[in-house]
Amino acid sequence: MPQNYFKLIKDAFPEPVFRLIIQAGELAHGMSYGLYLVGGVVRDLLLDRKSDDIDIMVEGDAIKLADLLAQLPNTRITSYRKFGTSTLKVDDFRIDLATCRRETYSRPGALPSVKSGDITEDLFRRDFTINAMSLCINPGKFGELIDIYNGKQDLEKKLIRVLHSESFTDDATRIMRAIRYEQRLNFKLETKTEKLIARDLDMLDSISGDRLRKEISLWFSELQPEKILHRADELAVLQKLQTGLHWNDHFNETFSRVRKQAKPASAVQLYYCLLVYSLNESELDELLGRLNIHGGKLDNLCRLTLKLKNKLALLDEKEIKRADIYYLLKDFSPPAIRANALCTGSHRIRTYLELYLDNLRFTKTLLNGRDMARMGVPEGRLVGIVLQDVLKAKLNGEVKTKMDEERLARSIIRKLSDPGMHQ
Ligand code: CTP
Repeated sequence: MPQNYFKLIKDAFPEPVFRLIIQAGELAHGMSYGLYLVGGVVRDLLLDRKSDDIDIMVEGDAIKLADLLAQLPNTRITSYRKFGTSTLKVDDFRIDLATCRRETYSRPGALPSVKSGDITEDLFRRDFTINAMSLCINPGKFGELIDIYNGKQDLEKKLIRVLHSESFTDDATRIMRAIRYEQRLNFKLETKTEKLIARDLDMLDSISGDRLRKEISLWFSELQPEKILHRADELAVLQKLQTGLHWNDHFNETFSRVRKQAKPASAVQLYYCLLVYSLNESELDELLGRLNIHGGKLDNLCRLTLKLKNKLALLDEKEIKRADIYYLLKDFSPPAIRANALCTGSHRIRTYLELYLDNLRFTKTLLNGRDMARMGVPEGRLVGIVLQDVLKAKLNGEVKTKMDEERLARSIIRKLSDPGMHQ
């Protein structure tokens, strides 16, 4: 691993970002503040991995420093005075500035109470040794590594290790973070840390639904979330979220198919559907409640996915008509159908679901309301009935051209206006 951290920092970032880091260090120095790159960015620098988010901790008033930085040309800064943090955007990089702090937890799962502190105290409040290193960026000390907990050694040994035995009781979301880093980096949980996870699993009960949901969404933003789910199942973390949640051997294939088919934002929604697919409705209710997912897009999608799962047997027909497929599926959203296509074990059903998604759902009649008026059908319910029958015929391949549609429409109108029909 390289030892020249000045060069490491210089080579890791585009010139404007590096320049800003230098300038921030100089300004901080003038205010007698210590300034440090901290956490993920240091971990990723030492691992030679790219990171777009840079956390900088200030031994001093972060907002005052941000106000000075804001006077530099081409710098966009947003300060959150209430939280004492500021965010800068340079190129595609996001730089967060905050004051070094020490934290104490009044009870497990509570958000910590915070006091300003120095960098040593700030590092002590962190989750894992590999996330508890800092690189000084003050002039004269630029590139000096502070590594009180041997994070660098753990990077070399590929270990995820907590700083102290109460880390998960302080904040049980770290259990979910530990698995995420382990799988992302292909590391291993250090033996004692793994035992602490088993010991402190119940602490997850003290975490709010919003925080749990955020961690699951972070799992799903990783390159291969299925690896995380596998490990979370092994460590009984999935079951802690909902007793019916389990790893499924098909996840390897279905998750990778999601990545091929969907853009990242919709992939996250589909991953949720795959995760809940084996639940029954009451288990789903319980999980959505636990994760504080109520009434929004994701709630709706998960529920529709299970509702459709319970209807799939209707599609298990060799001779089913295309119009029947259409009318069975038309009230389900495409992602709910996509999720079922990914999860069903039946080749036939998958083929029908994909036929709907790729083709049938786009089917439209060439005739429209104006054509109906031209054909003498008065505005009203009848127009809908005729057009719907024409659409059915079109879906089933019985009409192709506009002339076919018109001929069919006329015969339907004739039948409907034949008084004998209504007897
Ligand atoms: N952190 C922590 N405990 C948490 C959350 C965060 O100690 N529950 C600390 C860690 O030191 C972490 C830093 O805050 O490195 C920033 O958190 P975050 O942005 O979530 O993670 P990154 O380390 O930046 O890693 P990544 O975004 O790559 O997951």
